[in-house]
Amino acid sequence: MSIRIKKITAPETHELRHQVMWPNKPKEFVRLPNDEKGLHLGLLKKTELVCVVSLFITGNRAQFRKFATKTSEQGNGYGTLLLKHLMTITRDQKIETIWCNARVDKAPFYERFGMTQTPKKFMRAGIHYVLMEKTFEKKV
Ligand SMILES: CC(C)(COP(=O)(O)OP(=O)(O)OC[C@H]1O[C@@H](n2cnc3c(N)ncnc32)[C@H](O)[C@@H]1OP(=O)(O)O)[C@@H](O)C(=O)NCCC(=O)NCCS
Repeated sequence: MSIRIKKITAPETHELRHQVMWPNKPKEFVRLPNDEKGLHLGLLKKTELVCVVSLFITGNRAQFRKFATKTSEQGNGYGTLLLKHLMTITRDQKIETIWCNARVDKAPFYERFGMTQTPKKFMRAGIHYVLMEKTFEKKV
């Protein structure tokens, strides 16, 4: 099976974001005001985009957002592959901390990547979130 991860454009992420995360909201809901400033990655299975994530860097911190795997492909390890790749390139860019607003039910998934829950919690559109982060150890 041919699997590859590549850089994609913001508009290329929108369909999966919409289908997977907010199917009941209008399409515009999944667009981010700073989408053009993000680094967008997609995992392709053959030619089909099955998982997307977007990274936004501010100083030495990077936030990833809108992480979504096509519903019928969830649980196959694609999210893990993409998140590992994202962590590697983030670390290589000398970013100190990677963070995300995680859906609370997904916290155990992110904990497996060494991310920890902070006390910052909030609710949006009926979903509970917790800010999770991971600070990379400095390379010698
Ligand atoms: C979060 C999300 C992007 C993860 O992507 P994914 O491709 O399903 O990720 P993985 O397949 O690597 O891991 C998902 C689960 O399958 C398990 N898994 C991975 N590979 C597996 C395999 N080969 N066999 C069995 N289980 C496996 C993982 O351990 C993980 O378990 P968990 O959910 O209990 O933590 C995906 O679930 C998603 O799009 N969810 C809806 C949107 C969302 O919630 N986005 C994140 C907001 S914080």
